[in-house]
Amino acid sequence: MVYITRRETFAAAHRLYKDGLSDKENFEMFGKCSNPNWHGHNYTLEVVVAGEINPTTGFVLDIKHLKKIIHQNVISKVDHKNLNIDTDFMRGLIPTSENIVVSIWKQLVDKIPGGKLFSVKLYETENNYFEYRGE
Ligand code: NI
Repeated sequence: MVYITRRETFAAAHRLYKDGLSDKENFEMFGKCSNPNWHGHNYTLEVVVAGEINPTTGFVLDIKHLKKIIHQNVISKVDHKNLNIDTDFMRGLIPTSENIVVSIWKQLVDKIPGGKLFSVKLYETENNYFEYRGE
């Protein structure tokens, strides 16, 4: 098996909150990510694909193709968007990094040719990352 990682970055706004809670209660649950007037993060996304080398091409998959799949299915829907409002695959979810990383996995898992999606990692800050492997 060879593991291939494609890194992408995107900027997005969000607010973590639950309907029915006051601003103070939301702050207690979600901290400054509950700011009622939104805020943004510069996210880094790492998509890891695992596969055997195709003897004809020498590739597991064409990395240009992987980039295109990630852009069409994820980056175009999140970059410079509001994750609470604009992003169809986040509807009804609190846009925590946990929910974002699982949703991105679901966007990609059946679209990777030649290899299998192995892992999706989402960095919200330099110090925090969230990883999902489909389990
Ligand atoms: Ni936040």
